[in-house]
Amino acid sequence: MNTVSRDWLNKLHKVELHLHLEGSLEPELMFKLAQKNQITLPFESVEQVRQAYQFSNLQDFLDIYYQGANVLLEEDDFYDLTWAYLTKCHEQNVIHVEPFFDPQTHTDRGVPFGTVVKGISRALKDAESQLGISSKLIMCFLRHLSEDEAFKTLAQAEPFLDLIIGVGLDSSELGQPPQKFSRVFAKARELGLLTVAHAGEEGPAEYVWTAINDLKVSRVDHGVRSTDDPKLMKYLIETRMPLTVCPLSNTKLCVFDDMSQHNILAMLEQGVCVTVSSDDPAYFGGYMTENFVALAESLDMSKDQAISIVKNSIEASFASKERKQQMMELL
Ligand code: ADE
Ligand code: ZN
Repeated sequence: MNTVSRDWLNKLHKVELHLHLEGSLEPELMFKLAQKNQITLPFESVEQVRQAYQFSNLQDFLDIYYQGANVLLEEDDFYDLTWAYLTKCHEQNVIHVEPFFDPQTHTDRGVPFGTVVKGISRALKDAESQLGISSKLIMCFLRHLSEDEAFKTLAQAEPFLDLIIGVGLDSSELGQPPQKFSRVFAKARELGLLTVAHAGEEGPAEYVWTAINDLKVSRVDHGVRSTDDPKLMKYLIETRMPLTVCPLSNTKLCVFDDMSQHNILAMLEQGVCVTVSSDDPAYFGGYMTENFVALAESLDMSKDQAISIVKNSIEASFASKERKQQMMELL
């Protein structure tokens, strides 16, 4: 087998469209911030934290992920978190990113919305000027919370809309269908925001349909369960509706038992606009390069397939026409 090398995949210019900033919190920074902010962690050491990262489903992971985010309190903490992620992007030739953040995880602990968004945005701005990484920021609503709480969060975001391109929907999927948030997404669109949503990660293909029809999303996050529904597959192919697929996340959370069973390349070959992202890299064992390497090693992904995936990501991004053109020319 002629496996595409890690070096080639690392050098390939890449675009990341599905990344939770809170999920890029490495245990080392978690400990540093816990000490600074005098927060007690339920772990003795960085090694113990990493050992705890064994998940059998999405909820298992979310319980630990929300606990980790408790160490983030001040604007500089959000800056440092975001900057650490962007430094990693630079090392891996990721040239455009559209990260998510979960404001409710922080505002529910008394951290002001502005503290979160200002720290993140300052790091994104510095990355543009110092590292050449362009970005668009997406704020997610937690779907296990109520519609009313999502409306309150949208209201808190209003003074900062110049810093945010769109809204997303994340957290526990099962039993939390997208249509629960139809009205708040409609209001977000009225405010000029674009929309995306997690759907078809653990939940059924039906949730992908409702994300598209009720929330009017521009992209579906994950969407790997779409292959259960041939009509949906036909729709995704015909409309070029992008899926932001996260291979290492899917195996870590047991959406697929093994990477060799992942359906991303089969979807790519059928003409679905699939993209690759890392989701929560500090928790799932790898950033962009590691996700591409996993596909090369377990699914024998070719160089042409890797390039097609990046082209899909550029097409699916919210970057300007000029920036898209510039990025396409690097491939
Ligand atoms: N929040 C962070 N990562 C997530 C995922 N993979 N699915 C849903 N919500 C999330
Ligand atoms: Zn996600």
